[in-house]
Amino acid sequence: MAVYRIVELGDQVLREKARPVPEINKNILKLLDNLADTMYAAKGVGLAAPQIGISKRVIVVDAGEGLLELVNPEIIGSRGEDIAVEGCLSIPGVAGEVKRAEQVEVKGLDRAGKVVKVRANGLLARALQHEIDHLDGILFIDKAIRFIDSKES
Ligand code: NI
Repeated sequence: MAVYRIVELGDQVLREKARPVPEINKNILKLLDNLADTMYAAKGVGLAAPQIGISKRVIVVDAGEGLLELVNPEIIGSRGEDIAVEGCLSIPGVAGEVKRAEQVEVKGLDRAGKVVKVRANGLLARALQHEIDHLDGILFIDKAIRFIDSKES
């Protein structure tokens, strides 16, 4: 169990393009564990490796349907549009409406190194898009169409 400090807005690592993972080794498995531990400790729906200061293309997501771990995730298909309020563990106290695809298909590697494809909609689709954006140095505040007063949310 290792809960990491979550990097906050202003840290350069959040703006870097994270590096693809060439092979799944012990360090990557540990990274997946640490990401999940840190995400659950912070009660988040997703977490990307750059958010714990590691610029690698690794994410974890749990939108209430169980833990999903993805290495080198990419969006290979998307449909529809949906606007909803988002926040980010790296930007505490800020919430805003973001337009995302309503459904996505994501391809990546699981912890065994096997190619997996995930079809998602609703919160899971949103979380996957948000976390994959982190791997390209993109934050939800870059895409927010309206910020929500914290007293409202
Ligand atoms: Ni985030």
